Amino acid sequence: MKSNIPTRVRIVDVGPRDGLQNEKQPVPAAVKIALVQHLQDAGLKEIEVTSYVSPKWVPQMADNHQVMAGIARQAGVRYSVLTPNLKGWEAAVLDKPDEIVVFGAASEAFSQKNINCSIAESIERFAPVVQAALAAGVAVRGAMSCTVGCPYEGEIAPERVEYLAGLMRGIGVERVDVADTIGVGTPLKVQRAIAATARHFAIDDISGHFHDTYGQALANTLAALELGVWNYQSSIAGLGGCPYAKGATGNVATEDLVYLLHGMGIDTGINLDKLVDAGAYISDYLGRKPQSRVAVALLNKRAG
Ligand code: HMG
Ligand code: MG
Repeated sequence: MKSNIPTRVRIVDVGPRDGLQNEKQPVPAAVKIALVQHLQDAGLKEIEVTSYVSPKWVPQMADNHQVMAGIARQAGVRYSVLTPNLKGWEAAVLDKPDEIVVFGAASEAFSQKNINCSIAESIERFAPVVQAALAAGVAVRGAMSCTVGCPYEGEIAPERVEYLAGLMRGIGVERVDVADTIGVGTPLKVQRAIAATARHFAIDDISGHFHDTYGQALANTLAALELGVWNYQSSIAGLGGCPYAKGATGNVATEDLVYLLHGMGIDTGINLDKLVDAGAYISDYLGRKPQSRVAVALLNKRAG
């Protein structure tokens, strides 16, 4: 039987950004910097470090300059950051990210709640950011929120994902994330969102970004793997959620994703033991257990 399942997967750990952005307790820049170090020590080749958004909207990311200045960059690791507009880009470029992320939504209501503008306006804001980044030799990713469901509008049709993907492509975005922001997706719905995106982007340039609110993220990953998607985003220890998607929990835990992939014989370049250390580090700091079944199982095994 012919299989599209890739033999290698590249993971962006979004824990320092998506994971921590919603964290209510203060997390010092030094802890974020140490977390990035743990992640690169575990073999992560892509890390989403922070975002350059309004500190009034997302106070936890207000230390973006400090964090970017403090990380010890390792050759071969791509450090990405979120930039919603030119102001964000101008702040970000000072810190020399390898990649910037513009972030839009397939749902109008979510676009308004998250970035305070319509989908069309967001694309107008992103276009000069994308141009400036590409001119400066910085890679550009586009995150597409609410590709299967929206906290305000409910189910989202694949046509709306296709529309947004087309707009992203039109302004020069190089690769896109198909995000299930609130984790309501199930495998066939996620496959439809990916197929809609694939009308504008090559499968190599599409990544899966699945929040695990309803426990479907690993099943959705398997569904995406079947379509040949080999780029994924996950959050160490399953940290996180979006401040403008109430009730949504974190991305699939990187530990769980890596366990799944390694169990399928798929190469990630990541050392699962060191990854568990990274998750334990940040979970200990936050005073709770990792939101990763694999991490908890492996930590129990170590203890016992
Ligand atoms: P706005 O209020 O429409 O912006 O916010 P504005 O241009 O009218 O400016 C208002 C104020 O914000 C001004 O300050 C600006 O200087 C300031 P004031 O004069 O009032 O003191 N401002 C900024 N400050 C810092 N950095 C900036 C910036 N831009 C304006 N870049 C804005 C628009 C996008 C800034 C705002 O809505 C915002 O910051 N939203 C936060 C969005 C966010 O970070 N959401 C979470 C990340 S997305 C996500 O988690 C989803 C994802 O994971 C995928 C998925 O799972 O779906 C990626
Ligand atoms: Mg997210």
